[in-house]
Amino acid sequence: MSPDGQMFAPNCYDAEPIPDAARAEIDRLLTSGDLFRYTAPEGAPVALLEAEFAQMMGARYALAVASCSAALFLSLKALDLPRGARVLIPAFTFAAVPSAVVHAEMIPVLVEVGANYRVDMADFEAKLADADAVLISHMRGHTSDMDAIMALCDARQIPVVEDAAHSLGTEWNGRKIGTIGRVGCFSFQSYKLINAGEGGILITDDPEIAARCVIMSGAYESNWKKHPGMQNSYMLWQNKLPLYNMRMQNLSAAVIRPQLELVGERVAKGRAGHDRVGDQLNQNPHLIVPPPLPHEQRAPDSIQFNLKGDWTDTEALQFQAEAKRRGITVQVFGLSEGNARAFWNWEFLGPQDDLPQTRAMLMRACDVRLPTRLTNAELDYISDAILSAVSAVKA
Ligand SMILES: Cc1ncc(COP(=O)(O)O)c(C=O)c1O
Repeated sequence: MSPDGQMFAPNCYDAEPIPDAARAEIDRLLTSGDLFRYTAPEGAPVALLEAEFAQMMGARYALAVASCSAALFLSLKALDLPRGARVLIPAFTFAAVPSAVVHAEMIPVLVEVGANYRVDMADFEAKLADADAVLISHMRGHTSDMDAIMALCDARQIPVVEDAAHSLGTEWNGRKIGTIGRVGCFSFQSYKLINAGEGGILITDDPEIAARCVIMSGAYESNWKKHPGMQNSYMLWQNKLPLYNMRMQNLSAAVIRPQLELVGERVAKGRAGHDRVGDQLNQNPHLIVPPPLPHEQRAPDSIQFNLKGDWTDTEALQFQAEAKRRGITVQVFGLSEGNARAFWNWEFLGPQDDLPQTRAMLMRACDVRLPTRLTNAELDYISDAILSAVSAVKA
């Protein structure tokens, strides 16, 4: 707030704060130097995090790793598919997702995404005929029709991996996102609901997948004994699988564990904040916030909306600049240079067929971060700034 009572633009860029409760454990680890997950005979912070996360999600197994990308890579590897297997992924996701598929020596097949940011089921079904696996990114926490996806994949015995990087706390039909497919992968990178700078975790109920992921994540020699359950599976896989060393270290777990109990509160605040801004934006004839699918209970920490009706690229860029002048960063995905969420920038994939529907969406879809710590006054500042930026262009 300035001296004359004018409000400054809120800081949407900083991540969620780390609870004070993390400090004592971090101090203990710094003093002892016990940072490696396999040094302690039992009770290492990473192992405790895995047990707590699995319990929170209602999953049998959890494996904490270096990033969600590592979790995606290990999950795909653990499916035991041949080199060159074809993996369907939504064309609206972050570049790390097709990268994980390439890293696993598989071929990403991009599926069209609609104006509501969700997988286009007609294109999905058409491409499923030649697919060996499916990796569903719930991009920015938007859930695709998981009932339809699972029915189609189960009928063909095609395994589904969920990229729930942004979906901690989201539910589909009363089920936690990340527990619907064979494996669910989450991110603890700073701009997610739990902030550890970097980090990821995968969950599964399948003991074989869990055992393969544990070994490949870097449980060398007999370190698998420090992961509970399925001893026979581990013995089967030890020395048969490569060690990719994607382990999480204890300091990350110490930062994450005290945030687990805050998830419920952050989800409720994130949803309320999102809907408060969304209701305002939906009143403007030039904007639309696509509604969630009926079965989806979201856990957003950002808002996406589309420029509705007739907007030229020049107007969309003007709108971005007007919002910036008011202190709010709005990113039109397809209009920001080299955006890692625009499929045409994934040049490492080589030439790809165009995806006109996804392209059209990306050219008019806007992204604004709404960290769950924002107050109502700050959320209203953001809505006002966006609406006033629209007026400046569409007066
Ligand atoms: C949809 C999606 N999936 C996966 C990832 C990768 O997460 P990480 O940075 O933990 O590897 C990201 C990163 O933001 C993402 O946006």
